[in-house]
Amino acid sequence: MSNKKTFTLTDNASGESWELPVMHGSLGPDVIDVRKLYAQTGCFTYDPGFTSTGSCESKITYIDGDKGVLLYRGYPIEQLAANSDFMETCYLLLYGELPSAKEKTGFEHDITYHTMIHEQMQTFLRGFRRDAHPMAVMCGMVGALAAFYHDSTDISDPKHRMVSSYRMIAKMPTIAALAYKYNLGQPYVYPKNTHGYAENFLHMLFSNPCEEYVIDPVLAKAMDVILILHADHEQNASTSTVRLAGSSGANPFACISAGIASLWGPAHGGANEAVLEMLEEIGSAKNIPKFIEKAKDKDDPFRLMGFGHRVYKNFDPRARVMREQCHNVLDALGVHDEPLLEIALELEKIALEDPYFIEKKLYPNVDFYSGIIFKAMGIPTTMFTALFAVARTVGWIAQWNEMIEDPSQKIGRPRQLFTGAEQRDYADLSKR
Ligand code: SDX
Repeated sequence: MSNKKTFTLTDNASGESWELPVMHGSLGPDVIDVRKLYAQTGCFTYDPGFTSTGSCESKITYIDGDKGVLLYRGYPIEQLAANSDFMETCYLLLYGELPSAKEKTGFEHDITYHTMIHEQMQTFLRGFRRDAHPMAVMCGMVGALAAFYHDSTDISDPKHRMVSSYRMIAKMPTIAALAYKYNLGQPYVYPKNTHGYAENFLHMLFSNPCEEYVIDPVLAKAMDVILILHADHEQNASTSTVRLAGSSGANPFACISAGIASLWGPAHGGANEAVLEMLEEIGSAKNIPKFIEKAKDKDDPFRLMGFGHRVYKNFDPRARVMREQCHNVLDALGVHDEPLLEIALELEKIALEDPYFIEKKLYPNVDFYSGIIFKAMGIPTTMFTALFAVARTVGWIAQWNEMIEDPSQKIGRPRQLFTGAEQRDYADLSKR
């Protein structure tokens, strides 16, 4: 944090200058307040991709990309992954403080008793082709929730917002598992109130009527840690989508559906699916140099999936924890020769020693190892981003609530640099 008070902007042609206030946060870069810039100068700022733009004030998640630091409400992600659980992390993200034992029990109870979805949602589901991508199903099903819960869509009422928030967090695993079972042609598995959140998710994914599914505690713990790692991440593309949709007053289910759509992209949450496909395409460690060269070739659109990040210019701290979970899961499953893990470890080693990746500060991100864990757990590649969406729902919801409670909040409406045709008169067809 600096002691700067203002920046002076000068028009060198006219000599006119303007003082732009500097705002200071508790951590991270200061911001130049440009809210009055257009009124004062007649100019917009220009920042496609928002590489230098702060869209809001937030107290939820802080990232230091240079140091590889990720804090949820001030707590380092490594400490939460090692000592907390996903339900407690959800409470922390929503309310800003770690819960007391009583608060935690009450929160877990409330979430548990919202995990079922309206039975009529099954009718909606049956409209999809069996081979529909789970993310397409989740977009549709989550958006459809707005048609079932008219009792909690008054976003100006904090009670309505909290009921919708709990419903979203509770029902996402049920909807994701429903999409998976529908894909398989297996019967839908109802949630069990005796299970914890991660256990229930595994139960709904892998149980079937023909045999009791025994939950492996190592897999349940790994799933819980993976949910923590993916829970929130500042103003990423899907969170910004949820905030922008919510800024118009849209109902929370529609906003989360928009977030799911944005997360689906391979440059964002869809990267975990793309990493597995990439590792399978590489096929063997001996082919890695060829793919590294493709990733470095400006004329080749191929990128090393699971590498690079808009903010992290150091190791993504989540990737380190994910790599550790990878080894735990493979050991628990007795998988000792996972070729994809061998390729991933060798790819990571070679890339981190390559001048191109060093110069561009490209490190493995959260998506690099998650797919290997999911595959080892028997989860199909098409479900990887759906799992990411389950975890990220609490982050989207916490950011959505913060946006609505922000007194300075208004509908998001960016402007542009227009380079199209100037005004001209209509030409009759006979004259074209
Ligand atoms: C997530 O924002 C978040 O917080 C997202 C996320 C979250 O939790 O919400 O962390 C989750 O989305 C993680 C990122 C998952 N995506 C991938 O793994 C896809 C592969 N990575 C890239 O496509 C890319 O790195 C991005 C999209 C993640 C970041 O892109 P930026 O910030 O727009 O950076 P850039 O495209 O401008 O790249 C900078 C340079 C470019 O070279 P030059 O034009 O400067 O010569 O680095 C190169 C890029 O070509 N580069 C890569 C590369 N990523 C960037 N080159 C090869 N392989 C890559 N993966």
